[in-house]
Amino acid sequence: MDNTTEKKKIMLSGIKPTGDLTLGSYLGAIKNWAERAEQFDCYYFMADLHALTTRNDPALLRRRTLEQLAQYVACGLDPQKNTLFIQSHVPAHAELGWILNCYTMFGELSRMTQFKDKSAKNADNINGGLFTYPSLMAADILLYQPDFVPVGDDQKQHVELTRDIANRFNNLYGETFRMPEPFIPKVGARVMDLLNPHSKMSKSDEVGNGRVCLMDAPEDIMRKFKRAVTDSDSERCVRYAPEEKPGVANLMSIYAAVTGKSFAEIEAEFEGQGYGVFKPTVGEAVVETLRPIREEATRIMKDKAYLENLCREGAERASYIANKTLRKVYKKVGLVAR
Ligand code: TRP
Repeated sequence: MDNTTEKKKIMLSGIKPTGDLTLGSYLGAIKNWAERAEQFDCYYFMADLHALTTRNDPALLRRRTLEQLAQYVACGLDPQKNTLFIQSHVPAHAELGWILNCYTMFGELSRMTQFKDKSAKNADNINGGLFTYPSLMAADILLYQPDFVPVGDDQKQHVELTRDIANRFNNLYGETFRMPEPFIPKVGARVMDLLNPHSKMSKSDEVGNGRVCLMDAPEDIMRKFKRAVTDSDSERCVRYAPEEKPGVANLMSIYAAVTGKSFAEIEAEFEGQGYGVFKPTVGEAVVETLRPIREEATRIMKDKAYLENLCREGAERASYIANKTLRKVYKKVGLVAR
């Protein structure tokens, strides 16, 4: 790594490979990540160890992990400018995870709202990993000494806990971990479900008619947009009114995000035309936006040598940093040097 990247602030985020990336993930987040690399030294990893807290089909998990990685690259995350890797390829995550388990309190883990939600949903599989997941997440973060961790609302509590664990450790053994700040990312378009514009387009909605995935074929995308709910108001015109017309507003936001047009320009464009013209036009714009991403991700998935190389290089770069922190920790807590 050269000096210029070393001076940048460090940012890190993990993504669980347990669903398909959607138009919502792209327009709401990933699209903005490529330019982040100019300002920050960024680490992104596929959190496959975290995926094990719930049951998965092994072949599917393996495939999704690689596909997700390929899709991030296809969305514009340059593996030369960002460190992209698979969590399980850097053993330091599991190693520090164990140690931090010993510095995380039962009471703290019991208070995590995600644990409470998930154990209610998976009552037949409330395993130890589900419970101690936040200390693995703390290890994921603290290994890289990041300044910022971009997270959504559902993960804020875990970042707070990470800070508490880091503080506890630093107080006991002296400055070891940098205190990470949660980073509220600039939100792109907030994309809602096409059939239910009151709820967010979900990564794991298995039915899938209300969500568009990055890898969907053009004809499927068109079909989903043609069937998208509009609103049963009497004017039946394209006007931005999120309260009264949430379905139309959602389609307008999507169209604005993929074309760069303003709401006023969109209203003018469809003046005097009904939803029957509007919906397929939005569909076509989305098809064209996703086409190069789908093609590039497909190309990467077929190029086994490229993919293997990508994984290996990412894991090597990540391990170098992670192992430095891990060695410090091992020494501080009293493990005998290898
Ligand atoms: N827990 C996060 C999620 O469910 C994924 C994750 C794992 C993560 N480790 C992380 C996010 C470290 C940020 C930093 O979405």
